[in-house]
Amino acid sequence: MADGNEMTDPTKPDPNEIYDRLTRIRHLLMTREFGLQEILTKIDILRSEFQYSHDYNPIEHVSSRVKSLDSIISKAHRKGVPFTAEDIGTNLLDIAGIRLTCSFVSDTYTMRDLLLSQSDLTLIRERDYIKDPKPNGYQSLHLIIEVPVFLAEGPERVPVEIQLRTVAMDFWASLEHKIHYKDDSDVPRHLTDALKLAADMSSSLDVSMERIHKEILELHAKEEAARSGSNDEQADDSTSPSTGTRRLHHPVAQRQAMSDDSQELFQAVLESFGMSRPQE
Ligand code: GTP
Ligand code: MG
Repeated sequence: MADGNEMTDPTKPDPNEIYDRLTRIRHLLMTREFGLQEILTKIDILRSEFQYSHDYNPIEHVSSRVKSLDSIISKAHRKGVPFTAEDIGTNLLDIAGIRLTCSFVSDTYTMRDLLLSQSDLTLIRERDYIKDPKPNGYQSLHLIIEVPVFLAEGPERVPVEIQLRTVAMDFWASLEHKIHYKDDSDVPRHLTDALKLAADMSSSLDVSMERIHKEILELHAKEEAARSGSNDEQADDSTSPSTGTRRLHHPVAQRQAMSDDSQELFQAVLESFGMSRPQE
């Protein structure tokens, strides 16, 4: 019968210690998942608000993941980080990761600025591979951001990696990753050159698309200004001779691309005041 005085074998791992380590690692993964959810909510709010106020969505696609235990173990091993929750928590800052694919290059910086202007977020590290692409042509803006998560035992600050890029950069990076990321030793020079050339082409595509986008916005703005000028010449708040209802001349009434739902709601409110929407 065990009397509680047996000597523990120093060559064998202590099961209690292993259990304790695993519990801490599980806690680490859980907090990273919470951090991810916090940032995803922020991104969702920014996206909805943008759509609502500017009738424009700068985000094409959002994806996220918490690193698998397998990947954590192999990255810790590769970087010589001891497998404890404390060491992994301090050294592996990309356990929670979000990829934000934006429409245009300027949108990636807008999203960056909007996130960093939030007072509960702290920027830990920034790598701007858009301004300074990697030698192979890789482009993206990488941020490590710390976000507080509020647990029963108190708040904990959690690092989350955010990669911001355009659709063109994402296209290039996904295919390049498939082709040879981290295993480029045996890729012949003419193929790495071709990948770099493809990156340059995708970058000039980004420049062209953004220029076209800006020019179209300017055209719309001019048309809008001309239309509101001609509306100003008409009598404001006049009464429509055909319906007898009051016509409203109001900036909101002139908002162009209202969603169908907004149009309906707007119409219903006008009608409840006995007014009609001015003809466009
Ligand atoms: P990791 O150990 O991979 O996390 O790299 P790091 O800690 O040195 O950070 P870095 O900011 O350079 O890269 C982080 C992540 O960006 C990678 O895990 C990839 O998702 C992506 N990335 C970086 N470089 C490349 C590249 O050359 N090609 C592709 N396709 N993705 C890249
Ligand atoms: Mg990584």
